[in-house]
Amino acid sequence: MKHDQDYWDRRWLDQQTGWDIGYPATPFVEYAKQLHEKNIKILIPGCGNAYEAQHLHEEGFNNVWVIDISPLALESFKKRVPSFPESHLIEGDFFALKEQFDLILEQTFFCALHPSQREAYCEHMLSLLSEGGKLVGVLFNDPLFTDHPPYGGSLEEYKEFFPKYFKLNVLEECKNSIAPRAGREVFINFEAK
Ligand SMILES: C[S@@+](CC[C@H](N)C(=O)[O-])C[C@H]1O[C@@H](n2cnc3c(N)ncnc32)[C@H](O)[C@@H]1O
Repeated sequence: MKHDQDYWDRRWLDQQTGWDIGYPATPFVEYAKQLHEKNIKILIPGCGNAYEAQHLHEEGFNNVWVIDISPLALESFKKRVPSFPESHLIEGDFFALKEQFDLILEQTFFCALHPSQREAYCEHMLSLLSEGGKLVGVLFNDPLFTDHPPYGGSLEEYKEFFPKYFKLNVLEECKNSIAPRAGREVFINFEAK
């Protein structure tokens, strides 16, 4: 079962946004410290309040894009970070996006999608990555829920699943998760094979 825009709008309207941590998560802050090229094209899909996009923007990255299916998420982000270029806020479905990026950052987007969409997620990610582009971020290593988001997953299952699509530069327990997610996340750094 796919969750459509109405579902996500309702979550935002009802403030059922338990995923929202209120600050940029450590794995991204640390990863960004290794990026020296400030004009690489970066996408954050299912961005929500996009604290990581704000962080990158404030650190001088000038080609950061965010997409969310819910206009409410983007309105909230826009209000909080008025200096972020409005043309880089994409309102729409990730699966309909046709562009290319050097780096795509994953945090609680994969787990927001129904597991039946995981293959489509990988295929679409591959279509969005420029040559040498990378998909980097965190995935839950936690069973979580099977009937509503956040849908769970495990390191073992990811080791089986992702090599069909990507070259796995890193797929390991995340060592610098935020405290509430410590021991429940894996860090990924994938690229097209
Ligand atoms: C669990 S939230 C995570 C938000 C953000 N990544 C964070 O960590 O705070 C999932 C977000 O993905 C958005 N979303 C769900 N399906 C989407 C789709 N097909 N395309 C774009 N955004 C989508 C939702 O509106 C929601 O804001």
